[in-house]
Amino acid sequence: MLVGCYQFEPVFGEKEENLLKVKKALQKLKNCLVVLPEFFATGYQFRNHEEVQILSEDIPEGYTTKALEEIAKAKGLYIIGGLPERFNNRYYNSAVFVGPEGFIGLYRKTHLFFEEKIFFTPGDTGFRVWNTEFGRVGIMICFDWFFPESARTLAIQGADIIAHPSNLVLPYCPQAMPVRCLENRVFAITANRTGVERRKQGQELRFIGKSQIVSPDGKVIVRASEDREELLTAEIDVSIAREKSINPYNNLLSDRRPSLYGPLCA
Ligand code: ACM
Repeated sequence: MLVGCYQFEPVFGEKEENLLKVKKALQKLKNCLVVLPEFFATGYQFRNHEEVQILSEDIPEGYTTKALEEIAKAKGLYIIGGLPERFNNRYYNSAVFVGPEGFIGLYRKTHLFFEEKIFFTPGDTGFRVWNTEFGRVGIMICFDWFFPESARTLAIQGADIIAHPSNLVLPYCPQAMPVRCLENRVFAITANRTGVERRKQGQELRFIGKSQIVSPDGKVIVRASEDREELLTAEIDVSIAREKSINPYNNLLSDRRPSLYGPLCA
């Protein structure tokens, strides 16, 4: 099956323009599971709470989710992308999952990064996995990768593919995700953005690009450049992610010793 991700440079606050760009890029795809970056339609660097309020949306009723649903329906796509969500007077760094049948689900980022902590509430959905015709798909958002528990929790719930909308600024994730994939035997699709945001004095955020699709044996199947808009795709076989045995004696899920991992859950 075909999976992909779209790396580009969103313009801050220009939702319509950014969505149009996504729509045009995704015209090239059919019957594909495609991942978009974190905050792909709004941009990332909020200056204040007011900007967060103005740009956040209800899910699934809001403009961005509806626009993604339309694209998904027209092209037979499954799409995962990140957006700021308004819910019960709180704001979350969220990702939606839509398909040809419409809205599938929502994930709220668990581990907030840097000034996201000023503007957003830590996610309360927990890690979720959806069973689709593209296999079992779980979501984590950007900095969630830094916590191995995120990918592990998705793998234990049966994820074949981790969809990973991102706005990476630290350099480590492209090297680290192959390890997450290897230790959980899952595919991962990290959709990052490019460009620089300088919306706050003395604070430049340079996004590292390098979106990638990684296989359960830790191989980078395809990786984008640091600075160019790119649509990456790869043909994958999700059944590879369901074989958790490494040899006749070792299975990476059933060999776990949760009774000795108590401090992890403290
Ligand atoms: C990040 O979580 N956006 C680095």
